[in-house]
Amino acid sequence: MSKLTGSKKATQFTESVIREMTRLNHLYGGVNLSQGFPDFPAPTAIKDAACAAINADINQYAVTWGARPLREAVAREFTRRYGLEVVADEQVTVCCGSTEAMMSTMMAIIDPGDEVVIFEPFYENYGPDAILSGATPRYVTLHEPDWSFDPDELAAAFNDRTKAIIINTPNNPTGKVFTRDELETIAVLCRKWDAIAISDEIYEHIIYDGQRHIPIATIEGMADRTITLNGLSKTYSVTGWRVGWTISPPSLTGAIRKVHDFLTVGAAAPLQEAGAVALGLPDDYYTKLAANYQQRRNVLLDILDRHHFTTYKPLGAYYIMTDIRVFGFDDDVEFARYLVKDVGVAAVPGSSFYKSNAGRTKLRFCFCKKDETLQEADRRMQKLVPAGVTLH
Ligand SMILES: Cc1ncc(COP(=O)(O)O)c(C=O)c1O
Repeated sequence: MSKLTGSKKATQFTESVIREMTRLNHLYGGVNLSQGFPDFPAPTAIKDAACAAINADINQYAVTWGARPLREAVAREFTRRYGLEVVADEQVTVCCGSTEAMMSTMMAIIDPGDEVVIFEPFYENYGPDAILSGATPRYVTLHEPDWSFDPDELAAAFNDRTKAIIINTPNNPTGKVFTRDELETIAVLCRKWDAIAISDEIYEHIIYDGQRHIPIATIEGMADRTITLNGLSKTYSVTGWRVGWTISPPSLTGAIRKVHDFLTVGAAAPLQEAGAVALGLPDDYYTKLAANYQQRRNVLLDILDRHHFTTYKPLGAYYIMTDIRVFGFDDDVEFARYLVKDVGVAAVPGSSFYKSNAGRTKLRFCFCKKDETLQEADRRMQKLVPAGVTLH
């Protein structure tokens, strides 16, 4: 057999459906409500800080685990918000986005045969992350409409081989915000089975209806077994800057830093400087961010409801998961292709968030978009009709 092939690992997963939808959207000139990136500007203060850093010749490698001002800002803000002490030198590692933070974390802690518990639906990257790091994923379902999990089902997913559980709150794609009770249930299992919680908190500040974000690291007994991931992408509308980080217990930081160093050496030095400025924005910035997104959420919910989708109201993050059965298509991918090609709106097929078949009746829309963009999607979706109904 020819050796001119991809590795076994690389053939076990497909290209990202989310990113593919963005490419299809370019091809058909659609309104892109698929991939989660804003189409409005980032805050001027942080753009100015990035330009100033380049002009000040901060152009060479930063310290591999992150420029000190950013690491200190990450530690300071976590402590200030959640009352848990974080020591920058021992616990914070800056990576190329939280995507690399997750990969470095998984590669740093997983041995072959280790199992990782993942809630389904999940952020698309976690599947390939598990394969690349050699972990065996164990999926636990989040049940609509409120995306709750069955504590017995979760307990049954843990065993001696469980190395970690991945939590994402606020959650992509469901908009679920894990409650304290739910986090405590998870924490009991982590302590019982000596497992690590990997907590992706990238939507920390994008939260609605008076909900509060609770990092699982702050639950009793979890600080020394939680790796928290976060980044600049979503909070500051700079998904292309590729700056994220881990906050880990000191006992795990060394392993993460080694993997990170040999994977990427480091994130863009001037953008790390700007990141430190970003983390220093006043609290008012975060209040407005959440209020603006809540308003956009309401606008898109109304649009999708009017165009016959069954919607699940998100309490955080900037996505709406919908049920598409009313349109009578055989599956979600076929419907998503129809939607971008014939209607002119790109969304993400539900199956890219599921291992099981449950995603085939679902589609995810994002609302991190300007009002005009959402209005244009509304206009285009007038073409959509439920199955069996004809337009006059
Ligand atoms: C849950 C979740 N984690 C991580 C990421 C990627 O974040 P970053 O841009 O920091 O790599 C995304 C992006 O959509 C996401 O939804």
